[in-house]
Amino acid sequence: MTKSLEELELQTSDVDLMTGIASTRAIRRYKDEPIPKRDLRDMLFAATRGPSGSNRQTFRFVVLTESEKAQAAKAMIAKSAQAMWNTKRANDGYDAGSGAKAQSPKARMARTMQHYVDNFANVPALILPCFIRYRAPTSSEGASIYPAVQNLLLAARGLGYGGVITGFAGAVDKEIKELLGIPEEVFIAATITLGKPVGNHGPVRRRPMSELVFGDTWETAPDWAIDPPGTRHTSAGPPKHAWPKKEG
Ligand SMILES: Cc1cc2nc3c(=O)[nH]c(=O)nc-3n(C[C@H](O)[C@H](O)[C@H](O)COP(=O)(O)O)c2cc1C
Repeated sequence: MTKSLEELELQTSDVDLMTGIASTRAIRRYKDEPIPKRDLRDMLFAATRGPSGSNRQTFRFVVLTESEKAQAAKAMIAKSAQAMWNTKRANDGYDAGSGAKAQSPKARMARTMQHYVDNFANVPALILPCFIRYRAPTSSEGASIYPAVQNLLLAARGLGYGGVITGFAGAVDKEIKELLGIPEEVFIAATITLGKPVGNHGPVRRRPMSELVFGDTWETAPDWAIDPPGTRHTSAGPPKHAWPKKEG
């Protein structure tokens, strides 16, 4: 007899925590496979165990898979994703310079993004992490929802799934709220897609940690800030405007 979800323990992972952190990349290509309820349960359980200020637990997760409304939401956000990517592609010069060479990282990224937005309406799961405001918006309120979001992505990695944080619902916020009955004052903090990756989880590439970790003097790394063997690097993404803009 198959066990009910009440009887099924939280799954463990073959991927240890540190390896998972070092290989949780943005995954934008998914196999066309629905996510079993137990896996959704375990990933969202991890998300809901995230921290929040005073443990207010002001986060909620709207999980959209195959229902009619879910498909409508996916289609709506897919359109927004396509429009946003078209703008970014032009503004960030994805087709200029090295982007004109098919094998350059820029051109590969552009192909991945094009594939992602073209297939967005069919992603296995679309998750809208929502923040319930209990005071006027503050610049730090994200601190009570994004750790939960990262729990979700790490749990996905641990169970063989992959996902990516986007802001694609932003442009259709009102319509999505109407469709799904999300109160107007709720902040949809991200638009996340999840599925079984096509391809492998590669190592995360960032700038060397000595450029990102300082001791008691700004921009001066402590002597232990040395990347572990085999670390892969990449420069910061575009655009690189400084803020606030300097006069003159
Ligand atoms: C706040 C935020 C917004 C993002 N917005 C988008 C987005 O709109 N579209 C997208 O495809 N990826 C988006 N990403 C994913 C980033 O591009 C990705 O995390 C980054 O390039 C690092 O990828 P990597 O971990 O595979 O190296 C976003 C990530 C964050 C944290």
